[in-house]
Amino acid sequence: MPATPLAGLRFTITAGPTREALDPVRYLSNHSSGKMGFALAAAAAAMGADVTLISGPVQLATPAGVKRIDVVSAEQMHQAALKVAVQSDIFIGCAAVADYRAADVATNKLKKGASEQLQLTLVKNPDIIAAVAGLAKQRPFTVGFAAETQNVLSYARQKLLNKKLDMICANDVSQPDAGFNSEQNALTALWHGGEQVLGLQTKAALAASLITLIYQHFSQQQTT
Ligand code: PMT
Repeated sequence: MPATPLAGLRFTITAGPTREALDPVRYLSNHSSGKMGFALAAAAAAMGADVTLISGPVQLATPAGVKRIDVVSAEQMHQAALKVAVQSDIFIGCAAVADYRAADVATNKLKKGASEQLQLTLVKNPDIIAAVAGLAKQRPFTVGFAAETQNVLSYARQKLLNKKLDMICANDVSQPDAGFNSEQNALTALWHGGEQVLGLQTKAALAASLITLIYQHFSQQQTT
């Protein structure tokens, strides 16, 4: 294989969490550190790809040669992703996007009331990867992730079908040494008619194997 097998290919990769504001000082979010998505961006760039990384709020340096777009909320990530996806050959949704946001964001800090309970009304965020996979024109080869704590493979397969993806990476995030904010991870890549286990290893090593696997499937799709 040449040293830069992905030269000329455009990747867009989402990474990190989103933050959904409740008021000027509080938000809903999750434990994503961005490490998996950044490792994918670094691996694709090292293989010669032109990489755009759309990142939620994380504490990580931009990998060498990667273009980075910073966003905060799911709605911002959705806007950025749709703009760049149509100029991409391959789109990978590794971000842990909040499924819901507050129906109303308070202008001022919410004050503690007399009641022991506070009810929040949440509304659904747009499904970014489903929107990318559903593009009628200039649709990239679309790869999602599925972070699950139970029925990992069957929930991931459902997401592969429901979101109309080309591939999905099932990520069992119930394991203490893998998934969110760890240095290592393990995945099972699922596609229509097959799957491949990528065992526990550093996120950098895993990312290199996964980018190679994605490229193989992308190339096959181009020739059929
Ligand atoms: O960032 P790290 O700390 O390194 O952790 C890595 C990770 C655990 C975050 C990563 O490996 C991972 O599993 N990412 C997906 C997390 C997730 O939110 O999965 P999900 O099953 O909720 O979402 C399924 C897919 O839909 C994902 O591709 C997600 O990006 C996408 N999605 C979800 C909701 C939404 N509104 N829009 C989306 O595009």
